[in-house]
Amino acid sequence: MTTTPVADRSTATVAARATDLSKIYGQGETQVVALDRVSVDFRQAEFTAIMGPSGSGKSTLMHCVAGLDTFSSGSVRIGETELGSLKDRQLTKLRRDKIGFIFQAFNLLPTLTALENITLPMDIAGRKPDKQWLDTVIQMVGLRDRLGHRPAQLSGGQQQRVAVARALASRPDIIFGDEPTGNLDSRSGAEVLGFLRNSVRELGQTVVMVTHDPVAAAYADRVVFLADGRIVDEMYRPTADNVLDFMKQFDAKGRTS
Ligand SMILES: Nc1ncnc2c1ncn2[C@@H]1O[C@H](COP(=O)(O)OP(=O)(O)O)[C@@H](O)[C@H]1O
Ligand SMILES: [Mg+2]
Repeated sequence: MTTTPVADRSTATVAARATDLSKIYGQGETQVVALDRVSVDFRQAEFTAIMGPSGSGKSTLMHCVAGLDTFSSGSVRIGETELGSLKDRQLTKLRRDKIGFIFQAFNLLPTLTALENITLPMDIAGRKPDKQWLDTVIQMVGLRDRLGHRPAQLSGGQQQRVAVARALASRPDIIFGDEPTGNLDSRSGAEVLGFLRNSVRELGQTVVMVTHDPVAAAYADRVVFLADGRIVDEMYRPTADNVLDFMKQFDAKGRTS
């Protein structure tokens, strides 16, 4: 396992942090501990992949840290804000202003053009997009000649690029993606992952991505491995081979225990 962080992480600002985070579904015999006292930091301008077997709690972790789901105990902060202290309305505002989302399903509005989809969250918030920034983002994801197209007129890869641009457009403190390349062919997936990585390297964006794909994870600076609702390991500067090896070893362990 590679243990050397990419940069000196001790001085980097924490974009999001979970401390002793637990999430329990149901009660009694049907109780499922989806997250079991997870503590993890996501630092500014770092690209983290969350990996682990199906059912290990990846989506639950992402949803709890992103303020999309409640948790049973522990705490979550985005920047300096403790999510547990917020009322629903404040949480909605925080999600809208501070967080970008990219989902497996592109979640674009079919009646809006690419550009309208990109600026929709800011339009809803009544915020004017920073034109220069918007321009940078559109340039980066290579959508300049597709801005007037509706989602149905775009390929899957282009649609997800619109979703990436939408997430980046408001300069959120952190972007969360749940299997953002899950519906894409490998070439389009590679493009989208490349844009996400560039947004971290060139624009200082913070990205946290759930994936089960070692090739996708290799775009990240760091991989956090979950099993049975716990963080079992992490790896810096992952390569697809290293990640795959780790997952195999891990599968083997799972089968014998
Ligand atoms: N709404 C729910 N009700 C009950 N159990 C759930 C619910 N959502 C997830 N779980 C359980 O929590 C665990 C973690 O799920 P999830 O975070 O979706 O895993 P992953 O994303 O790693 O596949 C699984 O055992 C799953 O069955
Ligand atoms: Mg999931």
